[in-house]
Amino acid sequence: MAQCCINPSILSADFVNLETELRRIDTADAVHVDVMDNHFVPNLTIGLPVVSRIQKVSPVPLDAHLMIADPDRWAPAYADAGVASVTFHVEAAAAPVRLARELRARGAKAGMALRPATAVEPYLDLLPEMDLLLIMTVEPGFGGQAFLDVALPKIRRAASAVAGSGLPVAIQVDGGITEETIVRAAEAGATVFVAGSAVYGAEDPNAAIARLRSAASR
Ligand code: DX5
Ligand code: ZN
Repeated sequence: MAQCCINPSILSADFVNLETELRRIDTADAVHVDVMDNHFVPNLTIGLPVVSRIQKVSPVPLDAHLMIADPDRWAPAYADAGVASVTFHVEAAAAPVRLARELRARGAKAGMALRPATAVEPYLDLLPEMDLLLIMTVEPGFGGQAFLDVALPKIRRAASAVAGSGLPVAIQVDGGITEETIVRAAEAGATVFVAGSAVYGAEDPNAAIARLRSAASR
């Protein structure tokens, strides 16, 4: 699958003015919404009521990244709220295949996410059940961290498994994506790029999206 998508993370946006902040990224492919529960990760953000409101006003589809314990219980409600793609962590899911099927049955794309220290190999057999594989390029929990180059071989192995399977699975990377690191992630085979501080830290977020897009296709 060719590179396509820049998904800005609103974790770096002004949470008091979310509707305005969403309008500033209306050229994005989707908006990445980080849900953290202070259990799976040591940080707390927003949950279903706020995500449902964002869904109603966002000019672009929602890409939810659930950094939460017990996604088997909570994730389907995000699909019901109209979130276009719902990604849960394999380290937290009790039954990832059943959960992915539930998400798809509710009309969402299903994504599985891996922390930096989680090997991808045990999960490759699950790819036919998924629309997206998220390879974390930082430890989940906070924006503004440095890109972990140690994730590059895993991206490469995942990309070659996806290419070999012929499945339409997107390979998303999240964490530390800049105009510089996106080149390496794209070269390794990532196709969807999440960027928080690189987009919202810029004066003109839409211009930052355009710069990232052109760097990814270099
Ligand atoms: C981190 C989140 C990321 C974060 C990325 O746990 O999953 O989506 O917002 O932020 P940057 O691009 O600043 O690393
Ligand atoms: Zn994220």
